[in-house]
Amino acid sequence: MGRTIRIGALISGTGTNLQAIIDSCESGKINGKIVFMGSDNPDASGLERGSALGIPTFVVNYGSIIQHFKKAPEKVVPPDDFDLDDLLAKQTLFTADADTAKVKAFIITRAVAEAKLLDEMKHYPFDLLVLAGYMRNLSPYFIERVNTDPDIPRIMNIHPALLPAFPGVDGYGDTFRYGCKIGGCTVHFVDYGEDSGPIIGQKAYEILEHDTIDSIRAKGLKLEWTLYPECVKLFAQGRLKTVRMSYELRDGRKMRRTVVKILPSPEV
Ligand code: GAR
Repeated sequence: MGRTIRIGALISGTGTNLQAIIDSCESGKINGKIVFMGSDNPDASGLERGSALGIPTFVVNYGSIIQHFKKAPEKVVPPDDFDLDDLLAKQTLFTADADTAKVKAFIITRAVAEAKLLDEMKHYPFDLLVLAGYMRNLSPYFIERVNTDPDIPRIMNIHPALLPAFPGVDGYGDTFRYGCKIGGCTVHFVDYGEDSGPIIGQKAYEILEHDTIDSIRAKGLKLEWTLYPECVKLFAQGRLKTVRMSYELRDGRKMRRTVVKILPSPEV
């Protein structure tokens, strides 16, 4: 049995996915330990789970930073090591034709919030950061300070849809409204885009005639609670390797993408 991994978590809401990971750590399925829980939302009910278990918790109130920026942008001071042009060049959350002022406001306010997050997190060294219902996109400012070795990603996210379909804030709703007959959930490493990073694992459910958004959300969440611990377990076992793949489209365009290879279990 390898070393126990230290897992940090960020949540925005109820934290049922994090609970599933905590349960798997406690039962020994994952050789890991939750070392902190952070939230962007002071009212996130999931924070109580952490406090009840003696896990350190903290809040960085993104909402108040964003409001402050709207009222008095000149008073919101980015961190000393902030480089707007560098971050604008790296981010892939916005397309080239997006409103420049909006993109800049996003990058500045996120970097301010993320610097505070990093400041809180530095007290709790961690091997893996899990986003468990964290409803904020992370900017390159944060991601490159966590992924200090770009070949070893260590931020995971769970998304309520079968990516690359339906990225964004309402994966189950989007899947349902589109009229899909299959829906699902995805765990992936976080990159500089929206829900676009290398996929680690996915699970699918059937959408039947009588289903509603609520019923498919219930089906999906149930799958999330097994998928996320399975993916964290693979990470803890050192079995996730990212590789760069190249391929050519019919029109000759060359594409490159980082994908996850799952290494065989040492027990087999
Ligand atoms: C989950 O369905 C998760 O996939 C989703 O939020 C819910 C959080 O539930 N995450 C996202 O939409 C991220 N963009 P939880 O707080 O009970 O784990």
